[in-house]
Amino acid sequence: MSGKFITLEGTEGAGKSTNLAFIQDWLSEQGVDHIVTREPGGTEISEAIREVLLNKDYTAMQSETELLLMFAARAQHLKEKILPAMEQGKWVVSDRFTDATYAYQGAARGISYERIAEIENWVQQGFQPDTTFIFDLPVDVGMARVASRGGETDRFEQEKQTFFEKVREAYLNRAEKAPQRYSVLDASQPLDQVQADIVQRLQQLLDNPTVTLNGQ
Ligand code: TMP
Repeated sequence: MSGKFITLEGTEGAGKSTNLAFIQDWLSEQGVDHIVTREPGGTEISEAIREVLLNKDYTAMQSETELLLMFAARAQHLKEKILPAMEQGKWVVSDRFTDATYAYQGAARGISYERIAEIENWVQQGFQPDTTFIFDLPVDVGMARVASRGGETDRFEQEKQTFFEKVREAYLNRAEKAPQRYSVLDASQPLDQVQADIVQRLQQLLDNPTVTLNGQ
């Protein structure tokens, strides 16, 4: 397996989508064969699970249900899409992955990290991203950006600021504990500065094609 697995994380409105498009363009310019995908989602079945997860009418959804659906979508996504692409040597760029589960279902909903780790180990068998970009931004700034876009909000976007403060803190704590995997980007900087930081990290990965955290 020589493809790399890159994930993007952050609270709402931190600029993941814009920078995902940037990463996609940069990899294309470098001639890196890659696919772009997202979680929850990325395959037909996982996208169907996403619809259930994001449906704002489902206010009765229990945290455990939410957690298991995230991993159900992920199990399908991994086996059907991510691993086969990487086996073909492709890089895979995913808008969110398991760090989001620790941040949202763990820190914000209150499920223990030990419980999440048990399911993670079962589903992923040690598989981890090679690099995770965390787009970090004060929560109120991100929420204002989302509000100014207008449009429908999903079940998560309806949560209060305190919920997203917990999510943000969890991401930063995870990055602090494993700095070799994470690249925390100050998303309040001008976009070209954020993107210069992204390129620096991607270039490092490109220069080390045989080194992956998955040891393959
Ligand atoms: P998105 O808005 O980035 O597309 O992500 C959809 C929502 O799903 C977002 O609010 C974060 C949430 N989410 C979790 O709560 N746990 C997870 O494991 C993932 C992948 C996403």
